[in-house]
Amino acid sequence: MGLERADDAGVYKVTDDIAIIQTVDFFTPIVDDPYWFGQIAAANALSDVYAMGGVPKTAMNLVAFPLDDMDMSILREIMQGGLDKMKEADVVLVGGHSVKDKELKYGLSVTGFVHPDHIFTKNDLKDGDQLILTKPLGTGIINTAIKGGLASNEVIERITGIMAALNREAAEAMKSVSPTLSGNNSVHACTDITGFGLLGHLAEMVVDSGLGVRLLADKIPVLSETFKYAGMGLVPAGAKKNMEFREAMVEFSPSVDDLLKDILFDPQTSGGLLICVDKEKADELVDELRKRGVETRAIIGEVSSQYAERILVD
Ligand code: CO
Ligand code: CO
Ligand code: CO
Repeated sequence: MGLERADDAGVYKVTDDIAIIQTVDFFTPIVDDPYWFGQIAAANALSDVYAMGGVPKTAMNLVAFPLDDMDMSILREIMQGGLDKMKEADVVLVGGHSVKDKELKYGLSVTGFVHPDHIFTKNDLKDGDQLILTKPLGTGIINTAIKGGLASNEVIERITGIMAALNREAAEAMKSVSPTLSGNNSVHACTDITGFGLLGHLAEMVVDSGLGVRLLADKIPVLSETFKYAGMGLVPAGAKKNMEFREAMVEFSPSVDDLLKDILFDPQTSGGLLICVDKEKADELVDELRKRGVETRAIIGEVSSQYAERILVD
């Protein structure tokens, strides 16, 4: 696949049956607990493989560590968290690289497999498709509250679990309603929600598709504390940047809450999959997500030829 259209990961066809997917992601800590940070960083790095419809197979650790100011036991805990998440995902750690750095960073380079005829890209939307989101929004805003010492332990625990959850089950559900080699996939597009926020990633799907999207504001799953913290002004700078970049494509109905506008552009860490599925298959996909224990499985809107390359939030 070329680079003219950015997708979640790079894909290289090896044979008629196998293509490899490659992706890399690492970042600075978003939670205080090193073990959980390792899990979240690994789940986040693996997510792009799932978003392409692939299966992650091998990974390499990427580590930047302030050796002079931090105890090595912290690094060991981070890497244990990453390793446990890789085990859960049936991924083999095959190596890695570490450097001394002022700021701690951790992540993975991941390689996965996918059938070349069964790659879920971002841009193949079809008129009438339903949009399904598999994790609630708000992690950027809540992480800002955590950094400010304002979030309760209960909130921290909940959001940590959500960020550390693999998108594997959601990807399996997606593939189950769109079997390989049918030549008539009912899932037309997929991406994972990360730094650009829901509307930023949705804008990437819509650009050059000739189609638009109508989102239903009250159907979009949002972590309950997000509105409170957004109301306190705890919106990360990235949300404003995302908004500035894409607001020309977005139209909000007058009824849409100003806080929700920020939340829809809030940069997510290890967010859910945004799946674009044939209208006739949407309920079946929701049911497959439920069967696999995916708690959030919200139909948040639909693709429409009425608003070409625009997003209406209603
Ligand atoms: Co992605
Ligand atoms: Co990524
Ligand atoms: Co090396």
